[in-house]
Amino acid sequence: MAQRRLLLAIMALAAVAAATGFEFHEATVDAIQLGFSNGSLTSTALVRFYLDQITRLNPLLHAVIEVNPDALAQAARADDERATGRRCGPLHGVPVLLKDNIATRDRLNTTAGSFALLGSVVPRDAGVAARLRAAGAVILGKASLTEWSAYRPAPNGWSARGGQTLVFVTLSMKNPYVRSFTPCGSSSGSAVAAAANMAAVTLGTETDGSILCPASLNSVVGIKPTVGLTSRAGVVPISPRQDSVGPICRTVSDAVHVLDAIVGYDALDAEATGAASKYIPNGGYGQFLRMDGFKGKRIGIPNGFFTQEIFEKKQLRAYQKHIQLMRKHGAMVIENIDIAKNLTEVQNVLFSNEHIAMIAEFKLSLNAYLSDLLYSPVRSLADVIAFNKAHPVEERLKDFGQPYFIEAEKTNGIGPVEKASIQHLNKLSADGLEKLMRMHQLDAIVTPNDNGRVFFAVSGMPAITVPAGYDSQGVPFGTCFGGLKGYEPRLIEMAYAYEQATKVRMMPGFKM
Ligand SMILES: *[C@@H]1O[C@H](CO)[C@@H](O)[C@H](O)[C@H]1NC(C)=O
Ligand SMILES: *[C@@H]1O[C@H](CO)[C@@H](O)[C@H](O)[C@H]1NC(C)=O
Ligand SMILES: *[C@@H]1O[C@H](CO)[C@@H](O)[C@H](O)[C@H]1NC(C)=O
Repeated sequence: MAQRRLLLAIMALAAVAAATGFEFHEATVDAIQLGFSNGSLTSTALVRFYLDQITRLNPLLHAVIEVNPDALAQAARADDERATGRRCGPLHGVPVLLKDNIATRDRLNTTAGSFALLGSVVPRDAGVAARLRAAGAVILGKASLTEWSAYRPAPNGWSARGGQTLVFVTLSMKNPYVRSFTPCGSSSGSAVAAAANMAAVTLGTETDGSILCPASLNSVVGIKPTVGLTSRAGVVPISPRQDSVGPICRTVSDAVHVLDAIVGYDALDAEATGAASKYIPNGGYGQFLRMDGFKGKRIGIPNGFFTQEIFEKKQLRAYQKHIQLMRKHGAMVIENIDIAKNLTEVQNVLFSNEHIAMIAEFKLSLNAYLSDLLYSPVRSLADVIAFNKAHPVEERLKDFGQPYFIEAEKTNGIGPVEKASIQHLNKLSADGLEKLMRMHQLDAIVTPNDNGRVFFAVSGMPAITVPAGYDSQGVPFGTCFGGLKGYEPRLIEMAYAYEQATKVRMMPGFKM
């Protein structure tokens, strides 16, 4: 009887805690900071929540490749710092998950999802990781990739690593909304983990669509910043001309907090970050989270993206409704404009020239990354190819081969062919999207999901994707706002106004 009374008392206490306590699911950075300051939350409790989510959900989703053994210690330190009255920024004590191609100088491996890089020792944190640490964020772990990967279960039985291909491989990665459906890549782990509340915020990287695509298909917000706005130092590279590191989060506001923390000059990525640092606004990006963000904006809807061949009626209706909503909120929407006379043709030309430039850039920049490592089982792309040949089963060479690696290895720097391709890309961009935007004085073009990605990729332009709806099967789709270099402030204004007016995001239901 006494025992029963005690039990009831404990249950009543728990109920009180639940009533006045912190709501962990869908917690935003602002709510987390409020929770810290009103005493309903500690960083330790928050890390425990996400570790528990990872333990429960990762066997299903494979979004997290490694958990940081020091995450709880970092959380405890953040809690101590707060208790001593230290002034803390918005990411202080906030657990962040990094895509596995972003180096951390700690007990975590940095492998870009590959076996070849397992055990390699990085000389220092990646520029963006160092900035997150300086902001007091907790490094929760690393997120899986689909690119680069053939899969096998990792020693702990629930993550995925493998390493020989550039094609999308989605064998073990699942979409948390509809599990039979691809979550897209290659920042899939980051997007899936954000969607399924396995981390507070995450970082992804994009060379051509790798933030925008998985963010769109997992009902989260992805920002692909202007190339150079965020440092790529210490990030396993593909193309320094196109690579960009950006946030993948559940809300625009969260993504903006992360963006504020990671932008800026880095001596180890001096040229690009030096050139882009002029775009960083005084006072940061938070000031652009404006409910009236559509007011006075000029938005272009280029032909060829919102078509029946790509989307079902339900999606097209949602997009039409949302475009109306932009008008209602004060935007001037300009439809029936063309990026090119023949969009398909130009896209094909862009992709083929991008490929020529990218494989040569990949060999150069990967070799530079590998030679900078303190220790590595592989020191060059040639070593990686040999490593994969020596591990054909783990690397599933029979299924995927390693055609891009072999093709890249045959290149010999940026010669006349590559130079011509890069010039062609620049000209197509200048005569295409850039000219269109200037001609109509556009603040953004709006496209579905990542479908405009190649235009943003080859020109180093920024884009933000925001949840827009769910198709008849329940697969999420997004709306993407893209603009000229340095347009982040106005893209954030529109993305935030759009998010607040639509409120589309829902937690995943893990449908089969
Ligand atoms: C503390 O703030 C959180 C929001 O982050 C809220 O959910 C909670 O109810 C607040 N608790 C108290 C005791 O004020
Ligand atoms: C890093 O990889 C090594 C080798 O597989 C493994 O023993 C170690 O646990 C990994 N680190 C973490 C934090 O998972
Ligand atoms: C556009 O280009 C594609 C690919 O080159 C071609 O198949 C198609 O017929 C062209 N469309 C038009 C309307 O010219």
